Amino acid sequence: MNNDKRAKTIFAVGGGKGGVGKSIFSVALGTLLANAGYSVVLTDLDLGAANLHACMGILRKTPSIADFILKKVPSLEDILIETSRKNLHLISGADFLPGMANPAYWMKLKIMRHIRSLPADIVIMDLGAGVHFNTLDFFGVADRGIVVTAPEPGAVMNAYGFIKGALFRKLQSIFRKHPDIGPLIDSESKKTEGEGRLTLDKFTKEVIKIDPDLYPLISEVEQSFTPALVVNRVPAGQSHVLVRNLIALCTEKLGIKMDHVGNLPDSRDISDFLLNIPGFLDAKAGKLYRSAIKGIIDTLNVSDLTVPQKGQRKAEFSDEDVERIIKVIEWLDDSIFSGTNREVWKLRMYFNPSEVVDFLASRGVSYETLSSE
Ligand SMILES: Nc1ncnc2c1ncn2[C@@H]1O[C@H](COP(=O)(O)OP(=O)(O)O)[C@@H](O)[C@H]1O
Ligand SMILES: [Mg+2]
Repeated sequence: MNNDKRAKTIFAVGGGKGGVGKSIFSVALGTLLANAGYSVVLTDLDLGAANLHACMGILRKTPSIADFILKKVPSLEDILIETSRKNLHLISGADFLPGMANPAYWMKLKIMRHIRSLPADIVIMDLGAGVHFNTLDFFGVADRGIVVTAPEPGAVMNAYGFIKGALFRKLQSIFRKHPDIGPLIDSESKKTEGEGRLTLDKFTKEVIKIDPDLYPLISEVEQSFTPALVVNRVPAGQSHVLVRNLIALCTEKLGIKMDHVGNLPDSRDISDFLLNIPGFLDAKAGKLYRSAIKGIIDTLNVSDLTVPQKGQRKAEFSDEDVERIIKVIEWLDDSIFSGTNREVWKLRMYFNPSEVVDFLASRGVSYETLSSE
């Protein structure tokens, strides 16, 4: 286990529809954050239609996340590619074989663990289109999800469907094994808009009624699931009726907060720079787009998010550590978990190993049990 004292922020960029500008936005955001002095890793998780490498002008064959999934390299760090920009690295998603675009759940968790321990201040995960579980899972585990949409009704409804899917997928992944809450989430997720679905605050109340010990976990979801909204290709002076509708829909129907963090201009000249998005940001033609991204960076409060918190020591655990401790959790006596849920601790092990180790220690499990075979 090595220790990483730096706090890191992981952004996920998603949205229901393809072609709305997610990848270009991801590269632009990463480029300007790198310019501002942050060390940034762009991660292409559009497994199947990867194009971040192309946006960066990297057309030669490079290592990619496929090598990690196929276990040709042990760590994501091994496939970091330098780009033409200082502070900006790329994990390419190119070269996916058919079938690989659909990694197993445990592999996604493994990818996330490795992303968490990348040597960077900021990681930006560019996700694919649609509401496939892959996309939703990565969106749900990021520190901040950013939804990109075009200002057309169809794209806005897709964005709503994406946010709803990501919320339910997140709840499912946490509670799916709970005998009462799992089925409750399933039936709620299948309801149509007219059927009066439980909003997140009402769902929280139900969860606490069923099992008060789950309160910390569900309130963590309530506080952390606040997608940021970016509207792309907004004509100058256009009103924000659709944006207001989308935010209202998310509040009324899902009970979540959403922040509209900015609009991006329709920039016809982008088409001359599709293989050099950083160059577009430097060019006169990219001036409006660049200042829009800068505004979004300010609104996202990146500098606050990435300042290392005083006194916080973040322990990173290797894959082997995590797997071993999960095995330990499986065979531990039930009484150790009294008042809590073993499945929840197994799941937390993926995201917050040090918290789990502290919990087990507080219940009398010795450090030796956790650290040896
Ligand atoms: N702000 C913009 N102005 C004009 N065209 C844009 C803009 N953003 C994206 N595009 C166009 O849309 C295409 C798709 O963008 P991309 O970022 O690859 O979408 P996604 O990742 O959502 O599928 C780009 O190739 C570009 O031609
Ligand atoms: Mg894309």
